[in-house]
Amino acid sequence: MTKLGIGLLGVGEMGKRHAENLRRLVPEARLVAVADVAAERARQVAAELEIEHSFGSLEDMLARKDIQAIVIATPDKFHARCIREAAAAGKDILCEKPLATNLVDAQAALDAVAKASVRLQIGFMRRYDPAYVAAMKRIEAGEIGEPVVFKSVGRDKDVPPLAAYQSNVNGMLFYNNTIHDFDLARWLVQDEVAEVQAYTTVAIRPEIAKYNDVVAGVVNLRYVRGAIGNIESYVQAIYGYDVRTEVVGSRGSVFVGSVEQIPAAFLSVNGRTQPLADHFLTRFADAYVAEARDFVHNMLNDYPVRVSGEDGLKALAIAVAAENSHLQKRPCQIALHTDAGTIAVTYSAN
Ligand SMILES: NC(=O)c1ccc[n+]([C@@H]2O[C@H](COP(=O)([O-])OP(=O)(O)OC[C@H]3O[C@@H](n4cnc5c(N)ncnc54)[C@H](O)[C@@H]3O)[C@@H](O)[C@H]2O)c1
Repeated sequence: MTKLGIGLLGVGEMGKRHAENLRRLVPEARLVAVADVAAERARQVAAELEIEHSFGSLEDMLARKDIQAIVIATPDKFHARCIREAAAAGKDILCEKPLATNLVDAQAALDAVAKASVRLQIGFMRRYDPAYVAAMKRIEAGEIGEPVVFKSVGRDKDVPPLAAYQSNVNGMLFYNNTIHDFDLARWLVQDEVAEVQAYTTVAIRPEIAKYNDVVAGVVNLRYVRGAIGNIESYVQAIYGYDVRTEVVGSRGSVFVGSVEQIPAAFLSVNGRTQPLADHFLTRFADAYVAEARDFVHNMLNDYPVRVSGEDGLKALAIAVAAENSHLQKRPCQIALHTDAGTIAVTYSAN
């Protein structure tokens, strides 16, 4: 069997899971090497997973001719630069979300990908989750009619350590967390978001305000064709990893998550009336494997990627607009001019 030679960059929590999947659950992949600025960690992961090579830098890994594709799982702020370097070395790329943490870096990354004629997929793995795939099939079949309202909830369980904010290597809530819902908002409704208005709070953790982050955010959406939406993100739900999405249309509604009919639900560290996942690596375990298999298969067969760099750019534009709305405390509009290669984020009149 022809296999795709892969090098994986960043073997932290997410990267290690990708490495395990590529090594054991993706038959068409040959994970040739892992690399990490923490070279000793890369060496340990390579030894544990029986991967031949480990490196302390992307540059060294890119020099290998038997690597055709790079998986990027570094913190958010390094994604765009790593994409540019991997593209310049002629490698195809699967990059974790977000594409970048600002539109200038994002555009430069996409330009480098286009110039090198390589392919780039963004790690919006929810598009591979069986429940979201089933929901999308029903929407595409017209079963809920024309989408009218999009609603999504994304709550992480564990309180992030203060060091996660101090290190300043990831984007704030809207880039690091809500970006999954911004992608779902486009994908499931099959329309672009034209305007956002964000509300945020640091209520239970005021000390993170000085790192320009928030513990929770609610973002209202207005779509180009007229639908509306609402997304809630919260990073310290404590009681569990809680992800739910609904699209309400002219003929019905499709719901991913629990719709159990009980008089009242109670979710706390002391107990839950409903079963919930504990972690994204559990809830989306199948999605990460399906994502990796699909990427590898498409690269080997010269097929286009399923989740493109442009998808990454458009979700990022919504995150930028949401952050601007949060900072300016007013609605923010998004103007997409992708034909001209630019995306503008502007404020509405008031
Ligand atoms: N798709 C998802 O569901 C999902 C879930 C979690 C994280 N992520 C994304 O995955 C990425 C990694 O997150 P994580 O939780 O694994 O972080 P992490 O902090 O656990 O791991 C990051 C790793 O990258 C290494 N690193 C840092 N800078 C580097 C550089 N310039 N070059 C090479 N290696 C570098 C670190 O040493 C560390 O080992 C983030 O972008 C995050 O947003 C996605």
